[in-house]
Amino acid sequence: MSSRVYLRALIFAVFFVVTFARSVPLETYDQSEAERYAILAGVAYCAGTLGHGVEDWSCDACKKYPGVSATVVSNTTTDANGFVAWDPNSQRIIISFTGTDPLDIKNWIDDIGLIQTDFPCSGCKVHKGFYDAYKSIEPQVLAALAHYRQGHPGTPVAVTGHSLGAAQAVLCAFSLHLQHGITVSTMYTFGQPRVGNVEFAQAYTSQVSHNWRLTHHMDPVPHLPPNTGNIYRHNSQEVFYPDFTDLKYTVCDGSGEDPTCSDKFIMDLIVTDHWWYGNFNFLTGYTSCKF
Ligand SMILES: *[C@@H]1O[C@H](CO)[C@@H](O)[C@H](O)[C@H]1NC(C)=O
Repeated sequence: MSSRVYLRALIFAVFFVVTFARSVPLETYDQSEAERYAILAGVAYCAGTLGHGVEDWSCDACKKYPGVSATVVSNTTTDANGFVAWDPNSQRIIISFTGTDPLDIKNWIDDIGLIQTDFPCSGCKVHKGFYDAYKSIEPQVLAALAHYRQGHPGTPVAVTGHSLGAAQAVLCAFSLHLQHGITVSTMYTFGQPRVGNVEFAQAYTSQVSHNWRLTHHMDPVPHLPPNTGNIYRHNSQEVFYPDFTDLKYTVCDGSGEDPTCSDKFIMDLIVTDHWWYGNFNFLTGYTSCKF
């Protein structure tokens, strides 16, 4: 190799390392993909005890992505609801969980509780209420998932959810990974509360990839349960939308608790900020499935 070629190769190598090591995150955030999952998370509000229009994919939000076949998962005792679906548009199996009845959200926020229970990773503890809700529909999720995986072998699995549904989505994705050997390839949550302790947040963040946790302005739910004393901690990767209607965003640092993102607000109760994610209004979506 001539010294000139060698020098060029060296300069290129240094440029490459400096540029990419510093600025390119492991994965790239995709705003339009996030918007798609916000709608799919919204569709869950039409499932089970909350509304209708998912089984035959006729709900207003459903119509944006025609041709989906879906199975509702629902437990009338715990009011946990969601669906599992085959989406021919994105060629993915979708698992989506819903939050609590939007008209009850204030009560839900007040009663959120702090009690934790064991989760099957080392030292991990998670919010008992969230885990109980997920566990009450897990057998139905697994059965529907097996059905769609049989029909579409090798299809990537995506998990999503809003609010309480976001917490269930996290518990589902990590349970599938740890206990069922199923890799979740795409993960979006919207207005997610903290799900578990530091050990849980770290294990989840390092093992579930393409995982985006969207927070919006002064949405109160990402502040719950509070992280006082590090009993609860957020997983990464947070993507923060600082304005009400605007779609500008910040990909936050990987700590889970970036003080310049949602955490810069202490505990503001602007519940309307909880309903608006990725250009989709969860409250309007919910009311439309009542008729
Ligand atoms: C609903 O949840 C309760 C409480 O977790 C559980 O005992 C019951 O078996 C569940 N029902 C169905 C149909 O899955």
